[in-house]
Amino acid sequence: MNTQNLEQLTNGKSLEESIVILAQHTEGKIVFSTSFGVEDQVITHVIATQQLKNIEIFTLDTGRLFNETYSVWSRTKENYGIKIKPYYPENQTLENFIGENGINAFYRSVELRKQCCFIRKVEPLQRALAGATIWITGLRAEQSANRSNLALVEWDEGYQVFKFNPLLHWTAEEVKNYVKKHNIPYNILHEKGFVSIGCQPCTRAIQEGEDFRAGRWWWEDNSKKECGLHR
Ligand code: ADX
Ligand code: SF4
Repeated sequence: MNTQNLEQLTNGKSLEESIVILAQHTEGKIVFSTSFGVEDQVITHVIATQQLKNIEIFTLDTGRLFNETYSVWSRTKENYGIKIKPYYPENQTLENFIGENGINAFYRSVELRKQCCFIRKVEPLQRALAGATIWITGLRAEQSANRSNLALVEWDEGYQVFKFNPLLHWTAEEVKNYVKKHNIPYNILHEKGFVSIGCQPCTRAIQEGEDFRAGRWWWEDNSKKECGLHR
């Protein structure tokens, strides 16, 4: 399997067909990262209903997520009867960081914010991706300028894994309609102006006309508004 192969195999195929093809043609380990956002719920629905047991679903629990996110996690597991593997920040590192810098250090500087993201998300992600051949994500091109030039399949040099972004060219409306049509459980915060949902202290709702990612780390104006999961 290489990038070209996978692109050719999935070209013109539906979402369901693409993910099934991927599951059938990959020899190595396939993992899917979910934050329980609406895009990820679409992918989880496909993996669960197509019974693709060789795709491991995992989530990075930062310990600072919204209660509404924990609720959709719980409902998703119950509804589909699937395994969702959680990854947690490394104890000792987190204790040292909070002991040194305080519980809400991320508001003080971009550097501290990035350290918090590294400890709570990036390092656990490195463990989750270890040994994987393919990493499925719910990234969409529309979400930001950074993401607009992503490819459906790409080699991630940093994590040494092929990234597959099956919803890359979907619009927000298409995602919403799919969720409605299939009665998929979703985060109730999406109905309250939250589009991109991360950690509770670092995410706010957006106003109409605001940028899709304006609600993430809203107090920063010079950062790239990424936490390091995606570069
Ligand atoms: S982030 O990098 O800004 O946090 P975003 O919320 O847009 O990412 O989500 C993009 C994709 O990253 C999701 O579709 C999902 O695959 C992955 N992702 C983001 N946050 C998490 C998380 N906490 N656990 C697992 N995967 C995540
Ligand atoms: Fe820490 Fe905020 Fe990053 Fe979550 S989004 S890991 S709370 S800085």
